[in-house]
Amino acid sequence: MLEWLCARGFAMKMFLLSVVMAIVCVGYFAPVALGQQHGEPKRVILDTDPGTDDALAMLLAFNSPELRVEAITVVAGNMTADAGLENALKIASLAGRCDVPVAKGAIHPLLQELNTGKFWNGANGLGGAELPPSKCKPSAEFAPDLIIRLVHKYPHQITLIPVGPLTNIAIAVAKDPAIVPLVKEVVLMGGGITGGNVTAVSEYNVHSDPEAASIVFNAGWPITMVGLDVTEITLVTDEDVARLESKPGPETTFAAAVARFQIGTYKGTGIFHGGAVHDALAVGQVIDGTILKTQDMRVDIEMDGKFTRGMTVANRKNAIERNVPEGDHLQSMGLEAVQPNVHVAVSADSPKFVDMLIERISGK
Ligand code: BDR
Ligand code: CA
Repeated sequence: MLEWLCARGFAMKMFLLSVVMAIVCVGYFAPVALGQQHGEPKRVILDTDPGTDDALAMLLAFNSPELRVEAITVVAGNMTADAGLENALKIASLAGRCDVPVAKGAIHPLLQELNTGKFWNGANGLGGAELPPSKCKPSAEFAPDLIIRLVHKYPHQITLIPVGPLTNIAIAVAKDPAIVPLVKEVVLMGGGITGGNVTAVSEYNVHSDPEAASIVFNAGWPITMVGLDVTEITLVTDEDVARLESKPGPETTFAAAVARFQIGTYKGTGIFHGGAVHDALAVGQVIDGTILKTQDMRVDIEMDGKFTRGMTVANRKNAIERNVPEGDHLQSMGLEAVQPNVHVAVSADSPKFVDMLIERISGK
């Protein structure tokens, strides 16, 4: 009897143990199949046109344990694609990150000519800060193909961080729309709902390739738009750079030189009291989602307007008037809802972000 009970007890324990193991295994592996484990670094691809603030965005990403930078993809924008690639490789080399593929992408926007940005970035794109030749080598892959390959390799895990014109991302979507539901989210620097920096209403990255932006904004994936509304109020000052330099290092010295150039350029406009580091803020939001507050809105890209090409047209009420034909004219009948497609960043904890940027890059 005792033997029988012991055998029953043993069998029961084994049964319970296997149930517990099954629950643990399902709980562990199911999220792996769907996405990432809580607490694991986020896999990100930074699509960039370096670029002063792009350079700071790269350094912030490389120095943040919350992120696993799977690739740097370069698009023509602030610089030609070749010059941008060279800068990206030099920055990766400076950060000791030749393990990260750096791939060249589109050499011009989809339909219009390239508009580079010497005024905001200096002739070398890095505010005149010189870097030694890169030890890193470029990837042989075309950037949109690399994006497609990595999204399929890590389904539901990749966060795209486009911080240049959206040409590479649009090409990737056009070539392989299957990536859209496989991308975790897109956190882009671009646009603005309260004004532009190229024209009265158009921001540089969207203005540089509105057709590409339209493809990206209408793709159907989760988008956070880190636009001028938040990047132009999140400024780095001389005091911040002094803090940065208090712990010197090669990356720190380079970042300080870049930031000083930006501060000088922005202050020189007479509009700003410090330097806007637009792209780095988008990276900061991926690291810490509490930095920006967002509001869901329907955002369309103006591709035609005489004064408004490249504008991110935001519907703050998510409603438009419903008009129906009545005789020889239209009659308003009420409102109809429009579906929001973008989380628009509307306010920022700027000191929190600037502290993060300074702390992560100083002493490096
Ligand atoms: C954006 O335009 C570029 O010049 C900057 O790198 C940033 O991505 C700001 O409008
Ligand atoms: Ca940029």
